[in-house]
Amino acid sequence: MSKRILVTSALPYANGPIHLGHLAGAYLPADLYTRFQRLNEKDIVHISGSDEHGVPITIAAEKEGVSPNEIVERYHTGNKAVFEKFGIDFDYYGRTSSETHRQTSQDFFLNLHEQDIFSKKKQEQFYDKDADMFLPDRYVKGTCPVCGHPEAFGDQCEKCGTSLSPTDLIDPVSSITGNKPVVKETDHWFIPLGKFQAWLGEWIGSRENWKPNVLGQCKSWLDAGLGDRAVTRDLNWGVPVPLAEGEGKVLYVWFDAPIGYISATKEWAAEQGNPDLWKTYWQDEETSLIHFIGKDNIVFHCIMFPAMLKQHGDFVLPENVPANEFLNLEGRKLSTSKGWAVWLNEYLEDFDADLLRYVLGTTLPEAKDSDFSWRDFQSRVNSELADILGNFVFRTTSFTQRFFNGTVPPLSNPSELDKETLKEIERQKVKIEQAYTSFKFREAIAESMNLARIGNRYFTETEPWKTRKENPEACGNTLYVCLQISAALSVMFSPVLPGKMSQLRTQLGVPDNTSWAQINDHLLASGQLIKEDTILFEKIEDEVVEAQVEKLKKRAAESEPDQKKFPPLKKEMDFNNFASLDLRAGKITGAKKVKKSKKLIQISVDLGFEKRTILSGIAEYYKPEEVIGKLVCVVANLAPKKMMGIESNGMILMGEDSKGKLHFVETDAEPGSPVT
Ligand code: MF3
Ligand code: ZN
Repeated sequence: MSKRILVTSALPYANGPIHLGHLAGAYLPADLYTRFQRLNEKDIVHISGSDEHGVPITIAAEKEGVSPNEIVERYHTGNKAVFEKFGIDFDYYGRTSSETHRQTSQDFFLNLHEQDIFSKKKQEQFYDKDADMFLPDRYVKGTCPVCGHPEAFGDQCEKCGTSLSPTDLIDPVSSITGNKPVVKETDHWFIPLGKFQAWLGEWIGSRENWKPNVLGQCKSWLDAGLGDRAVTRDLNWGVPVPLAEGEGKVLYVWFDAPIGYISATKEWAAEQGNPDLWKTYWQDEETSLIHFIGKDNIVFHCIMFPAMLKQHGDFVLPENVPANEFLNLEGRKLSTSKGWAVWLNEYLEDFDADLLRYVLGTTLPEAKDSDFSWRDFQSRVNSELADILGNFVFRTTSFTQRFFNGTVPPLSNPSELDKETLKEIERQKVKIEQAYTSFKFREAIAESMNLARIGNRYFTETEPWKTRKENPEACGNTLYVCLQISAALSVMFSPVLPGKMSQLRTQLGVPDNTSWAQINDHLLASGQLIKEDTILFEKIEDEVVEAQVEKLKKRAAESEPDQKKFPPLKKEMDFNNFASLDLRAGKITGAKKVKKSKKLIQISVDLGFEKRTILSGIAEYYKPEEVIGKLVCVVANLAPKKMMGIESNGMILMGEDSKGKLHFVETDAEPGSPVT
């Protein structure tokens, strides 16, 4: 193992808030790894920050009608804060709008430029004359040539999923002005990835312990053959191309963003009062560089960025890129635009961070896509955190309080079972360590919980509530063993449950700076005092998680485009049938609720020549007093019908809006006159 580790987690776009998908892809695994290695006394630095460039930012700005600056300011600040609340322990959270970053990425570009590695080529691109700008692919809309969807984007049709070029679209228009764009030539710089193909194949092939899902994606990119990739864009938002001929152009966001890891490390070093320290992490061969990302970022971190680093020559290459697959939510693909997501700031309003760290940790999409559901959340909190870990620690500490004056009893004449159980601490420690260092966080967490399981089973088997009277020495041994397991757990579980385990260490008197190496079967000394016991984990009630699912469904329904489902037309009717319908204008003169009915209101209608009683199913939308005085249309020759013991004579016409609310069909005609 190398001397030091540099962990990066993908710089999230500062164009929206952080949700569960972000956490499961990169940030939670990166944090688990970092916390474990820190506990393991490794020299480790964890870097991330906001990706503040590219079309994702300008599109978000346009949607809201604000400046890109306002968007990145808002989400950089918000995301940084929420990561902190969730316990994602970055050493530095930078941003790509910083001056250090502009300088670093321009220097990087110039370095490659001076090595004459780029090719400059002319490209034809859509141009919006009125907006006086080249249109990024995403800014061109039109009809999808594959499925006919009229609102397809120039990079992809979101209806059928086909990836497109703007020129594929039928009747393309600019999304800025709505005008038909023209084709215009523009120059761009390209990195010829093909030149790196052979080296990349060898390099990736020689990597050790890379995950199969990552290798698989790399292989299919390499098999398809690497071509030239543009590293500049015509956009007015980003890092300016540092060449006179590049005026008005910026670096492609996927060129500058990964360099953001370097810029942020520089800023971190400056903050440490040792501005050159970043070099140790980026330039010394004894550094292990590990990129935590989601699977959509694999090609950039395993192919493009390594090619850039290799060509530049001054930097270490990634040792591993343990990318995760995707997290689904309640069985459906996560989608922020469809409102199908759980945002971290909302989660934190209702629950403790550690609960989600645990549940998500047990569900990480490490090898394949996985699913988060609120039911599973509830069941893991209740039957694992509360019933196993929490219960074990609680019964151990409360028994010690009640029957041993809160002090750790001595271990004297331990049985085989006592000795064997103590040994489990070391056995689990080895398994957990192995899992963490090979990026198998689900396994690390499962093995941590297994130690609590072992402790629980042992407590039950040794029956201290019986031995207390029959064999006090054995009873003391049981509590000794269980207290040592609790103490070991308070350190072992701390990468996953930093808040709760710190609370437990305080209670047990385990020093906060206990390292991984120091975990053993005698962290607590006989005679040591244990503080009052507290309940670590409360159970979650059904209603609480049902409310979360409701909230999710409601938001998804609200963000559906207002595409009302209209019922199909009824069968054609002949004119005579229509002519037999007698519609009349009427005036509502009275209204009251119908007892025991949620829907019905009893309405008195003046038809001019007579008064009617009509029952109308509008109680969910109107209070009786609101409808009095309305001039309405009445089906006047409908056969009477009895409901809730009241006879209804006719029907009042109503129309429905997109939310299902009913509205009166009103008329100024004189009550009694026919409506035709
Ligand atoms: N912003 C990108 C995304 O959210 C990730 C950038 S990772 C880095 O998909 F390499 F640019 F840092
Ligand atoms: Zn389509």
